[in-house]
Amino acid sequence: MTTAISPTERDTRSVASRDDIARLLVDARARTLRLVETVSEEDLHKQHDPLMGPILWDLGHIGAFEELWLDRNLEGKVEFVEMPGMYNPFEHPRRVRGELPLPTLAATLASMAEMRERVLERLERANFSSDDPLLRDGYVYHMVLQHEYQHNETMLQTLQLKTGAPYSPRERGPRPAAVPNGARGGMVRIDVAEASMWRESGAWQRRSMDRIGAPEPSAPVIHVCYHEAEAFARWAGKRLPTEPEWEIAAAWDAKTGQARYYPWGAGSDCAAANLDQLAFDVAPVDTYPANVSPLGCYGMLGDVWEWTSTDFSGYPGFAAFPYSEYSQVFFGTEYKVLRGGSWATRPGAIRNTFRNWDYPIRRQIFSGFRCARDD
Ligand code: AVJ
Ligand code: FE
Repeated sequence: MTTAISPTERDTRSVASRDDIARLLVDARARTLRLVETVSEEDLHKQHDPLMGPILWDLGHIGAFEELWLDRNLEGKVEFVEMPGMYNPFEHPRRVRGELPLPTLAATLASMAEMRERVLERLERANFSSDDPLLRDGYVYHMVLQHEYQHNETMLQTLQLKTGAPYSPRERGPRPAAVPNGARGGMVRIDVAEASMWRESGAWQRRSMDRIGAPEPSAPVIHVCYHEAEAFARWAGKRLPTEPEWEIAAAWDAKTGQARYYPWGAGSDCAAANLDQLAFDVAPVDTYPANVSPLGCYGMLGDVWEWTSTDFSGYPGFAAFPYSEYSQVFFGTEYKVLRGGSWATRPGAIRNTFRNWDYPIRRQIFSGFRCARDD
């Protein structure tokens, strides 16, 4: 159980203009297409693993989601369940998506481009000062952008599990040289009672070793499930952090009495962390010297999603908007919260407050952990 957080420092970026949104949409699509430019049509069509659907489905789904929210929806309210059948994730679980009569790559790209034309044309007329909370400040456009970013990470999970020749992107992304920061293996002392002043209430409170390589000693372990993470922490005399503890470690700034938007502050310089890469790799802890929180915790964002011990549920007062199928339908004890993003996460999809979740047995995701301890 966690509480709503306030006050939290705002990202200092001003409200995006329609031109900004158009640029972000173009950038998001370019990145999506860059992911697949070196992949054959056959491999895009293929179900490489029961855990992941064909990448061609993700492409069609990205387009269908955009059409639903940024085209059809602006004509009059639509429900998420009205999403076109083939690309509706609830009608077709991942393991059976390979059996769908997916259109060819050319047809998929053509319909995505055609939807995009309509979206950009409507964007020119969109009123970001509207009373409609969906349009105000471009909310629905940001939502659709984040959806495309999130599917980029899903596509990278699929590419990682690709059968046949390994995936080989044209460029893997830059990796800065390490600068020793003394963070290797260290623990940071945090007075949770003091830090929790910023929260509203007192709500503080399978092992198969196949295909696993040894991690670099100074880099985080990746591809561990919740149970493995929890077992390691217990073996080490520690435990996994709760979700609120994780957020304090990433965000709490005792000097200002506020929570930071990113560990390094409000500036959206996500080159500060190992995000948005195609290197399929984590970085040693001293590779990104600016990626440190006010409390002195390194690498809170990027590298690996970090398992927390908290079940995924809504904060008190949570109300789904604009659709409950994004998160609310997954609330309960089946899923654990992961925080912080991975090397595969697009910067626009991560911040100190972003909540991800997955089944505790999953480890095809880019998941790792950090430990906490009571003293
Ligand atoms: C937030 C990563 C759990 O993949 O199920 C994509 C993201 N939601 N399309 C998921 C998502 C709708 C979501 N996660
Ligand atoms: Fe989706």
